[in-house]
Order: sequence, then C-alpha cells, then structure tokens
Amino acid sequence: MAAKNLKRVALLTGGGDCPGLNPAIRGAVLRLAQEGVECLGMREGWRGMIEGKADPLTPADVAWIVGKGGTILGTSRTNPYKKEGGVEKVAETFKKLELDALIAMGGEDTLGVASKLWTERKLPVIGVPKTMDNDLSATDYTFGFDTAATVAVDAAERLRDTGLSHRRVMLLEVMGRHAGWVALFTGLAAGADYVCLPERPVDVKDMAAKVKAAFAARKTALVVASEAVDLPGETVKKELDEFGHEVLKSRGVAERLTEALEKETGLEVRSAVIGHIQRGGAPTLFDRILGTRVGVKAAELALAGDFGNMVALKGNAVVPVSLKEATAKLKTVDKEWLDLLDRLTAISGKTPVAA
Ligand code: F6P
Repeated sequence: MAAKNLKRVALLTGGGDCPGLNPAIRGAVLRLAQEGVECLGMREGWRGMIEGKADPLTPADVAWIVGKGGTILGTSRTNPYKKEGGVEKVAETFKKLELDALIAMGGEDTLGVASKLWTERKLPVIGVPKTMDNDLSATDYTFGFDTAATVAVDAAERLRDTGLSHRRVMLLEVMGRHAGWVALFTGLAAGADYVCLPERPVDVKDMAAKVKAAFAARKTALVVASEAVDLPGETVKKELDEFGHEVLKSRGVAERLTEALEKETGLEVRSAVIGHIQRGGAPTLFDRILGTRVGVKAAELALAGDFGNMVALKGNAVVPVSLKEATAKLKTVDKEWLDLLDRLTAISGKTPVAA
C-alpha cells in the first residue's frame, strides 16, 4: 500500500445519521492507523470543516463502537455552498489542519458537496455512502437501510397484533424521503396488505378495496406508507432544507391516509409514525459488516491516493465509483419491484393469522 505521502486524514459524517456509521468510522480509523496515518474527526459534518473544529480519532476511540448506533462524530445538514465563504473556509481547514485527505460519509447531499470540492477544487476527498433511504444509485445497498427496515418490520408486526385484537385496520408511516425502499421492504417483509410509495400516487379506491378484502378474511389489515406519498387532489405546503430537499416531518401522511381509509372503507383505522426510531439503535449484522467494509476500503483508497471516488457495494464486492457518477441520479423503486409488490398484495383469503 502506497502510504508514504499520507500523514493525516480527517473523517466526517453528514446528513441524517444511521446505524452503520460507527462501524464505518472504526473500519477507516483502524486501517489507517495500521499504516501510521493519524486521523481527525470533524465535528458535525461540513459544519466542522467550515469552522475548523476537529478532535483526535485514535484506535482506542473507535475500539468498541462497532455495535453502537448514531455517529460518534455528530452530524448536521450544513451545506458549505449555502454559507457565505463556506467553500473557502473548507479549503482553509484543509491547510490549517494539514489534511492529506478527507473521508466524507453521507448521502446524496453530503457526497454532492464532496463531489464538487473534488471537481472544482481538487480537494482530496473520498466518499462513503450511508443512508437509511437506500437511494444512491451507484451502490447496491447503503448501510443504515437494513437496520431501518428491520426496525420498521418489527413495528408493523406489533401493530398487526393489536389490530387483530381490536378488529382494526393498522397503518404504519415510515421514513425514506423520495424513495420508497423502506416502505417497500417493510411491506414485503411484514406481509402488508397495501403499501403506499412515493413513486406513484396513492389510488385510494384500490387501497380501500384491498384493505376491505384483507379485513374480511383476517379481521385486521396492515398498510405501510412512505412519508412522502401524495394523495390525489391534495396540495401540501413545502418547507425546504439547505440542500433544497423537502422537510417531510409535517406532512401528516399517516393522518391523511387514515382519514381517507376510514371514509372509503367504513372501518376503524389507527396509525403510527415510526420516524426517527428507525435511525437509532444498534446496527444489524448486515450494516455492521457493510459499514466496516466500506470504511476499510475508503481508507485504502486514501492510502492509494485514489481521490474523487465513493466506495460502492456491487454484488458482493466493494469497489470505487466516481463521486460524480455516485451522486448523479437518485435510485427509486422501479417497475420490477412494483410488479412484485402488486402481485403479493393482490392475494387475499383466509390465513392462520385470525384469532
Ligand atoms: O435521509 C434520511 C432521512 O431519515 C429521511 O428518510 C427523512 O425524510 C429525513 O432523513 C429526516 O430528516 P431529519 O432527521 O432532519 O428530520
């Protein structure tokens, strides 16, 4: 490994946190330490780079974090391109802290900044993909997604238990921003009767018909809905963040769908919003291993001077892809998955679930 020019590397985590970040930080720090490279942890994403705030990050600091949720570095949704002199300040921090490389861990926003810093300023950056939304197109999976969907499946099954006891329809709203992967996987894995995704407008009549059929057969029904779905004929006031993305917290999808379902079916409906619970807690086995692998690979790209790249999972291999390619397009649920979902939710009839 050509580590001779690399003395100090900074790491940052930006955007929404997710389980798997700590294993990735650990993987990178341990691998770099093996080559005698010193690591710094930038505080709270790009904000730390703008303000020049960093802490030492040693193998001892990361020894036991593989099973810990969140990120020990802290995070923010700060965009240097939206701050007065922000990009200049990031470049100054590189100089002031004598950084030879920066490993930026984030989703499309954080990595979009990294990509621009590389193409416009040739700052030596490497990207690590993370997001519970799983919406980065250049990688098969991002860590955080498996844990988030696993937590949501557990929530969905709990809802079904109480729904069956009370003979109610239960609806679970999950996160996922503008990609429906979390809702899709949760719905498939929990055997939901209907799944609402942001990739297509909700067909209220179709949803009501399937929910009624499921309820008639099983005395309860389960609907999983993504936070960004649109109901026909509704206009929602939009609030945007520093990256120009809609802040979805006040959309009230669960309430609006509950109301529509009660009206159309005449059944009693209760809903729950899982929200940030999906982003906390210990990473699953899959996310621990994926986080570790991409963290180690990012360190190796830095050691090799292979900047301007993001580490992607392709099949079972972790490989570099250019940051530009990695941030070009959002990965949304495609027709093949929609067809699979439609086939499974079209099935009704008696099952052994009924008490
Ligand atoms: O991008 C990850 C994500 O969890 C989205 O699914 C969600 O819409 C958003 O972050 C919530 O952001 P915040 O933590 O800023 O409320």
